[in-house]
Amino acid sequence: METAEIGAEGPQEPEPQVEAVEAEATHERGAYYATTPIFYVNAAPHIGHAYTTTLVDVVTRFHRLRGDDTFFLTGTDEHGEKVAKAADQAGKTPQQYVDDVAAQFRATWDRLGIQYDEFIRTTEERHQKVVREVLQRVYDNGDIFYGEYSGLYCVGAERFVTEKELNEGKCPDSDEPPEYRTEANYFFRMEKYRPWLRETLEEHPELIRPERYRNEVLAMLREPIGDLSISRPRKRVPWGIPLPWDDDHVTYVWFDALINYYSALASKDLEERYWPHVEHFIAKDIVKPHGLFWPIMLKAAGIPLYRHLNVHGYWLVNERKMSKSLGNVVRPLDLQRKYGNDAFRYYLLRDMTFGLDASFSESGIAERINADLANDLGNLLNRTLGMLARYRDGAVPAAGALEPIDEALRDAFIGLPEVVDRHFAELQFERALEAVMEAVRKANKYISETAPWELAKDPDRADRLDAVLNTCVEALRCASILLEPVIPGKARELRKQLGIRRVPFDLSSAGQWNLVPAGTKTAPGGPLFPRIDLEALEKAMAEPEPEPLEHKAEIGIHDFGQTELRVVTVEKAEPHPNADKLLVLTVRMGPETRTVVSGISEHYAPTDLVGKKLILVANLQPITLRGVRSEGMILAAEDDDGKLSVATLDRDLPDGSEVR
Ligand code: MSP
Repeated sequence: METAEIGAEGPQEPEPQVEAVEAEATHERGAYYATTPIFYVNAAPHIGHAYTTTLVDVVTRFHRLRGDDTFFLTGTDEHGEKVAKAADQAGKTPQQYVDDVAAQFRATWDRLGIQYDEFIRTTEERHQKVVREVLQRVYDNGDIFYGEYSGLYCVGAERFVTEKELNEGKCPDSDEPPEYRTEANYFFRMEKYRPWLRETLEEHPELIRPERYRNEVLAMLREPIGDLSISRPRKRVPWGIPLPWDDDHVTYVWFDALINYYSALASKDLEERYWPHVEHFIAKDIVKPHGLFWPIMLKAAGIPLYRHLNVHGYWLVNERKMSKSLGNVVRPLDLQRKYGNDAFRYYLLRDMTFGLDASFSESGIAERINADLANDLGNLLNRTLGMLARYRDGAVPAAGALEPIDEALRDAFIGLPEVVDRHFAELQFERALEAVMEAVRKANKYISETAPWELAKDPDRADRLDAVLNTCVEALRCASILLEPVIPGKARELRKQLGIRRVPFDLSSAGQWNLVPAGTKTAPGGPLFPRIDLEALEKAMAEPEPEPLEHKAEIGIHDFGQTELRVVTVEKAEPHPNADKLLVLTVRMGPETRTVVSGISEHYAPTDLVGKKLILVANLQPITLRGVRSEGMILAAEDDDGKLSVATLDRDLPDGSEVR
């Protein structure tokens, strides 16, 4: 198998026309509406955000393959103190700031080939309108009242927390201590709905899954949950949606944000079509708002409950949560550039068990690519194309009669759509992929066992060779359909290399055999997934990343022009009478002579300097250093170890010349 340097993938190809010719459906079709959390705009996208978004992209692509009517929503959460603070730190107005970061999220998703149907931003009027309507409805029903509240508040999580939630005195999921706050706010009567939610969760155990997160919410419901403060004084938090009945208060970000899942549909009159099918995907960090606040908000507003809240674990980096301060934040575009979109997506889906934390590592991606994608899938394609070229002039032969060994492989593949469908329904994505790869490995074994190279030697066995080659092509076709949601680009490329065009392409057809017409001309290309050179990767990773440079605030050319730099010739250099580290230089600058004290005696002997042309900061205020007046400063570079080198000219120019 060929080895290629990592890093060889350009931007995503545009999605092609679907090659859809539908086969008979073998399963029930329906509507499917999936959502990611709307991400806070106070940070750039990292692999955690990319995971949920990729996952929802995969599940909606899978449901499209099933023939379902799908809708995929993502977006950005743009109100609140945290965002206003981030805007301030970036020196932008909140609106400018949220526009910029929302654009960055969209651009990242575009680059990663994410095919969302709608991108909702909470600062959009269409969203705010629905938030006001929901608030008014809940207020009119008497479920919102005015009151005072004191407690521990975590700005990072944008909510009041209980003592029990603190981690050694720090806010959950952050290293910040909480603030003690008292506020007069509007409250949502959540406690009133506690028995209802408890019963609902008991009656519908599937509502929050996997079970551990349902249990987490049930545990919260065993004790009073209190009422939820759903407003903030506008004086303190101006960046939010004003309450429809009281302009002095803005809506609490979580009350505002959760409604996005509904407002995105309502603004397009799509709620009837999709709301009954809504599937939320989130990580474990936001179970409380989604498992507690959101169902109660929906109930109070008279909107039906979601179908499922699907909760996944965290990607950890070096066994720790990603954080800016730990410097372990992993950016999805860096990985996409290095390993390609599809391989990155495959890794994300294959190496996390839904519901549990997973450990991210680059060597993990590389090993996964080599094992599954290059050795198993890529190899099967390569061998098949190679044999077709060698023995059948690059055309797919008709199958003819199958023998039991061929039928065994066929059966392994045609049973897969059902298996994959079941794993997807149960959120076992890694098992779905493993099932397909197991079949692919069987196909590789099948080639070894049927030994087509032996069959090719015997003209009497030409039919047998046809059957084997055809079986390999069918296996690849089926695998490419089942892998399509996860590796859409490469699955397409695989079919292209096989020359498959007008062939049914949906989940049902992955369960059928003999669909590739005899005579189909193959079009072999480069390896589907080049192997990653693990040794080179390990070597590159062992070299410490250079520290980023710390830059000073930007200046304009005018600011720079304030500094007068001139060429000087050193006429005399002698040790400073009162300081070992200093030299006293007498320098000529055209018609002037100056005395300059310079801290370079550990790096230059006086004799090294006499006659040299150096650069002087000529308009620095004079200063007296240990009793000697210094009229300027010599420019020198310094490395991390403190080694110095004075700046000189590489061409002889007269002293007094200006440096610009
Ligand atoms: N704005 C709220 C969500 C409002 S939804 C109505 C929010 N935003 S967030 O930017 O903090 O995103 C949290 C989500 O990002 C997680 O629930 C998860 O989807 C994703 N992830 C963030 N870090 C993650 C990991 N380390 N691993 C996996 N997913 C992670 O909370």
